[in-house]
Amino acid sequence: MTEETILLVEDSDVLRQGLKSLLEQENYAVITGGNGKEALDEMEVMTPDLILADILMPEMDGYELFEAVRSKPEWISIPFIFLTARIERKHILAGKRLGAEDYLLKPISPEDLLTAIRSRLGRSQQLLLAQLHESYEASLIMLANAIEVRDPYTRGHVERVMNYAQTIAEYLGWTAIEINNLRFGSILHDIGKINIAENILHKEGPLSDEEWVEMRKHPEMGAELVKGIHYLVPALPVILYHHERWNGSGYPYGLKEEKIPVSARIVAIADSFDAMTTERPYRKELTPEQAFNEVVSGSGIQYDPLMVEAFQHAWETEKITEIFLAFP
Ligand SMILES: [Fe+2]
Ligand SMILES: [Fe+2]
Repeated sequence: MTEETILLVEDSDVLRQGLKSLLEQENYAVITGGNGKEALDEMEVMTPDLILADILMPEMDGYELFEAVRSKPEWISIPFIFLTARIERKHILAGKRLGAEDYLLKPISPEDLLTAIRSRLGRSQQLLLAQLHESYEASLIMLANAIEVRDPYTRGHVERVMNYAQTIAEYLGWTAIEINNLRFGSILHDIGKINIAENILHKEGPLSDEEWVEMRKHPEMGAELVKGIHYLVPALPVILYHHERWNGSGYPYGLKEEKIPVSARIVAIADSFDAMTTERPYRKELTPEQAFNEVVSGSGIQYDPLMVEAFQHAWETEKITEIFLAFP
């Protein structure tokens, strides 16, 4: 791991030097400024991982520095700690109002200072990780939507399938991690269609036998696409097995019952329900009620009876209808 950089802003030379060497002993890289202005100059050169700033300083004080830092989008998440003397206690409140992550009273013990710094840095890393995760999901949805653009009749398909599947899993009491993997699987379930020829994907009518052979390759093609991406491996079961059927009549492997991964058994229901309720060029869509009845009558044939039961429960709570109506 690269060392973390702390920007130390303090007008007292003695204190600045003392704190600098303390932080360097702890293997932080330290850049310094004697007031807010100097600190901002430093930040133009290098973005610190954390800012530790005195409040009362000449030229530009700690508050002004804080405002300036927070006004720039790329600096908005840098942890900011105020250092303040006891005599400036009234300023603490002002600091809190500004939303400073923390304030420390001078004189401060080295232990307290280091603890505060470590905890702020840790928290901002967690935040970064959460943001990273969010952007992963957003880019996946973008990618999946790019495939849908090729097939205008399936607009919103990925998001709806994801939400239907999640509703079922929630009823089953799945953990956050399991649900998350299911979401990724749902987003990517048809990713293999990126390799399916335009004329098959857009065909205004039922597919011929040869065209079906092509179309049925999309689960394996999709699995091939994502299997090298460590982060997406949990999505594999859904991508590969979402067209398997409970009675073994599905594709690509004709797996039966519990041999089919449970996440794929859930997405199979979510996927069919959405396909049935969406208009295609060669057939009219079913109403949600009709599609729901189709799913129920496929229980034990096409779909896992337990998953159908969970779907029925979700239906009764009206969550399924809600999702259906959320995408006009
Ligand atoms: Fe599919
Ligand atoms: Fe699908």
